[in-house]
Amino acid sequence: MYGNIRVELNHNGKTMPNLEENLGFGKHFTAHMFMMDYEEGTGWHDPRIIPYGPISHDPAAMVFHYGQAVFEGMKAFRTESDEVVLFRPDQNAKRLNRSSERLSIPQIDEEFVVAAIQQLVRIDAAWVPKKKGSSLYIRPFVIATEAILGVRPAMQYSFIIIMSPVDAYYEEGLQPVNILVESYFSRSVRGGTGDAKAAGNYAGSLKAQTLAKEHNCAQVLWLDAIEKKYLEEVGSMNVFFKINGEVVTPSLSGSILEGITRGSIIHLLKDWGIPVTERKISIDDIVEAHANGSLEEAFGTGTAAVVSPIGSLLWNGTPMVINQGKTGELVEKLYATITGIQSGKLPDTYGWLL
Ligand code: COI
Repeated sequence: MYGNIRVELNHNGKTMPNLEENLGFGKHFTAHMFMMDYEEGTGWHDPRIIPYGPISHDPAAMVFHYGQAVFEGMKAFRTESDEVVLFRPDQNAKRLNRSSERLSIPQIDEEFVVAAIQQLVRIDAAWVPKKKGSSLYIRPFVIATEAILGVRPAMQYSFIIIMSPVDAYYEEGLQPVNILVESYFSRSVRGGTGDAKAAGNYAGSLKAQTLAKEHNCAQVLWLDAIEKKYLEEVGSMNVFFKINGEVVTPSLSGSILEGITRGSIIHLLKDWGIPVTERKISIDDIVEAHANGSLEEAFGTGTAAVVSPIGSLLWNGTPMVINQGKTGELVEKLYATITGIQSGKLPDTYGWLL
């Protein structure tokens, strides 16, 4: 496709943290990384696995100025029988191309992306932790490297994959968090880049996150940018509510990222016969459900944490406490099922592991 992947092993070694101890999230990086370059005319070329280390770019590289960059997040797991498996990597490869298309970044063959990830994971397999809930977080990303200040799609790019052994997001088990309903800042708008995993989306979200912390909230619940009424995402995660036995999540409106965990959860709920609906959900719907006692659970979903229960929503200065601030039964079951499949404890009924 783009030529064979050249492998240059890291003979100097790289100090591996104790994988049984506190790893945190995205703090340690494995011994190798994958890289491949793109040049207009030539296309993607020189795929290689090389020792992990700094990369050097011209200060005029377009990524530094205009943020032409997309990324992915996925995980490899060490199963109970010591096999290393990837969770739905084909979905990440697809989404990478969807994001790239939005950011005018050239496409990459999806099977090649998965094969490159597999080969990198094989080489650094010793870095895949085994501790309960831990995993090897994989971060593929594409950056515009052409050195020019004109505003147009770059003609040169690098596709890079780095990997980090990480702990379960909530080491002590699922911990409900307080969330501030954000009434001023917006994450995205239909027609913007919110449905792409664009690096700039995350930069634009930081200010609201910082302000939320001042209200003792871990994150914000984003409302739509036009009416400031319809729910979109929670922090960098998709959001779900259980209201009167039915699970609802915002429909993909064009400004919401199509999470792979979101898709997996919808699939599981349907399989379990639990009604699940993708629809517009207004903050008024949530206030009403809370007031009449039908709001049973709320949670975020994403690759990093899998699920994250919401203990309370701060709206107009008043906290709405959900499920007495405790982790709900449904969110527990979803967490146990997804992490069970990932760790090989439960059968891979849906063919999600590679
Ligand atoms: C996720 O996996 O939930 C995220 O999107 C967070 C990631 C950017 C660290």
